[in-house]
Amino acid sequence: MKSESLAENLHVINHPVILHNLTILRDKNTPSELFRNAAGRIAQVLLIKATDNIPLETVSIETPLVETLSSIIDSKTEIIIAPILRAGLALSGMASDLIPTARIHHIGLYRDETTLKPVSYYNNLPVKLNNPYSTYVYLLDPMLATGGSAVAAIRLFTDLNIPQNNIRFISLISAPEGIDRLHSVFPDVKIVTACVDKALNDVGYILPGLGDAGDRTFNTVY
Ligand code: PRP
Ligand code: URA
Repeated sequence: MKSESLAENLHVINHPVILHNLTILRDKNTPSELFRNAAGRIAQVLLIKATDNIPLETVSIETPLVETLSSIIDSKTEIIIAPILRAGLALSGMASDLIPTARIHHIGLYRDETTLKPVSYYNNLPVKLNNPYSTYVYLLDPMLATGGSAVAAIRLFTDLNIPQNNIRFISLISAPEGIDRLHSVFPDVKIVTACVDKALNDVGYILPGLGDAGDRTFNTVY
């Protein structure tokens, strides 16, 4: 794939728990409930890695035995979790469990089936941020296919002056085409993914992939 020079900003987590749950996701016979459970388990592992850039501060506390210095998430840091609708919702519950103080901003985008271009239908971001340089963003979407949706979603945050280095894109399955597209526009955004699949088919679906992530999450496969 073309993105080798950007490998430091592509983190593929190869872990037995992830591989096991990816198989559950890929299997067309997996019912929606089990699909959501498997997606949540993978999200948990990806989020632990993706959030390793959150700044810390040191505070003094008292254990039942002694006073000691200890780390907490820096109180001046803003953390935003941004699930891309619909399918990103399969990952956001796990994210807000992990970081309960995060702000959750839903990004409504769907991919036009003919043009494969993203169509925006919702975003509740503020028009201006007080401290963009101390804001950290974790975008959630199970699928990075052509990369059109990812680029449109990331742009909402860079337009608010949040540095690319503070933005991470978390996906369950990524296509080489999507990784290349994302990094051609935003080279400093780190992608944290469970797997890089082979390619896209001629209608923009990832192969081998898992099919339509939104439909499989919400049981709308007919
Ligand atoms: C899927 C997926 C991504 C997008 C990826 O969403 O969840 O958002 O496609 O494709 P791209 O990289 O080519 O842009 P979809 O448009 O199917 O919407 P949904 O989640 O509401 O089903
Ligand atoms: N969106 C999906 O849900 N699946 C794909 O394979 C590609 C885009």
